[in-house]
Amino acid sequence: MQTPQPVLGLAPLHGVTIRVFRNAYLSRFGGLDYAMAPFIPAIKDAEKAARSHFKDILPEWNLAPAKGGVPLVPQLMANDADDFVSTARVIAELGYAEVNWNLGCPFPMVTRKRRGSGLLPHPELVDAFLDRACARSPLPVSVKLRLGLEDADEILAILPVLDRHPLRRVILHPRVGTQMYDGQADPEAFGRALAMSRHPLAYNGDISTLAGFEALRARFPGVGEWMIGRGAIADPFLPARIKGLPVPDDTLPALRDFHDRLYLAYAEYLHGPRHLLDKMKEIWGYLADSFPDPEAVRREIRRAGALDGYRRAVDLVFSLGGSA
Ligand SMILES: Cc1cc2nc3c(=O)[nH]c(=O)nc-3n(C[C@H](O)[C@H](O)[C@H](O)COP(=O)(O)O)c2cc1C
Repeated sequence: MQTPQPVLGLAPLHGVTIRVFRNAYLSRFGGLDYAMAPFIPAIKDAEKAARSHFKDILPEWNLAPAKGGVPLVPQLMANDADDFVSTARVIAELGYAEVNWNLGCPFPMVTRKRRGSGLLPHPELVDAFLDRACARSPLPVSVKLRLGLEDADEILAILPVLDRHPLRRVILHPRVGTQMYDGQADPEAFGRALAMSRHPLAYNGDISTLAGFEALRARFPGVGEWMIGRGAIADPFLPARIKGLPVPDDTLPALRDFHDRLYLAYAEYLHGPRHLLDKMKEIWGYLADSFPDPEAVRREIRRAGALDGYRRAVDLVFSLGGSA
C-alpha cells in the first residue's frame, strides 16, 4: 500500500507570517495544505469590534485557495470562553471552517495572565474553557499547545482533558513555555503524548530539512499531520521537497522573486523605512539558511543601516549565488 502524503501546515509566526508574507509565499511555493494565521486576541462583543481587529484574516486580503492560496485557520489567544465564542462568530461570518486556540505562547506577558502556555499548569481551567467553547463555538475548535509551561509532565494532565472534547485537530510543539525557542524540540516527549492521546496529534517543532522530516516520520509512522514554521522560511522549498514536488536545481531565481514580492508588500504594509528594514532583517535571519554560507549572508544583511544599503546587500548576496 502506498504511504499517504503527509498533511503539512504552515505554523503561525506572530509578526512574520502575516497576510503579506503568506500571500507572497503561497503564490511562489507549493507543498502546504493549510496555513495557520498568527494569533489575534479574542475580545468581548467581537461583532461590534472594528474590522481592523481582523485585518490579518479578512478574506479579501488573503490569497484564496482557488487562486493558489491554501485554506487558512485563524487562531485566537483567549482565556475567557465567552470572548472566544464571540470572536469565533465573526471568524465564521468571514467564511472560515475552523478556529484554533493558542495554548502555546511562551511570552511572560501572556503566560502571567494565564493565556497561551500559561494555562497548561491548570487543566481544570482548560477543561472549563473547552466545555463552554466547544459547546457554543459556531466553528470546530482545534488546539495548538506545548508540553507545559515549566514542566514537560504538565501535558500528562492536559491530554485526558483534551480527550473529553471534540477537537478538530491538536498540534503539539514538544517544548515547554519557559524554554521559549531554546534547546531542541523533544520528540521523545511527543512520543509519550502520542501514546496517551485519543486525538491524533500533529507534530510541530524544528523540522528544517527533508532528512530531519523523514527521520521523524519513520519514528512516528502513525502521525499524518506536520506543522512547519521557521524551517519553511529558512528553506521555502521544504514543503515541496517533503511532498516530492519538483524543485528547481537553481532555487535562487524563485527566492529572489519571493524576496522582491515580500519587500514590496511589507513596504506597503509597514510604516516607514526603519520598520521595513527591521522586518526584512528578521526574515533574513531565517532565509539565509537557503545559501551555502548562511552566516556570511546574515552578516552582510545585518550591516545595512538603511534601505539603500540593504538593497545593495541583497543584490550582492544573490549575485554571489549558489543556493544550498
Ligand atoms: C517569531 C515567532 C512568532 C510565533 N507566533 C506564534 C503564534 O502567533 N501562534 C502560535 O501558535 N505559535 C507561534 N509561534 C510558534 C510557532 O508556530 C511554532 O510552534 C514554533 O516556532 C516551532 O515550530 P518551528 O520549529 O517549525 O518553527 C511563534 C514562533 C516564533 C519564532
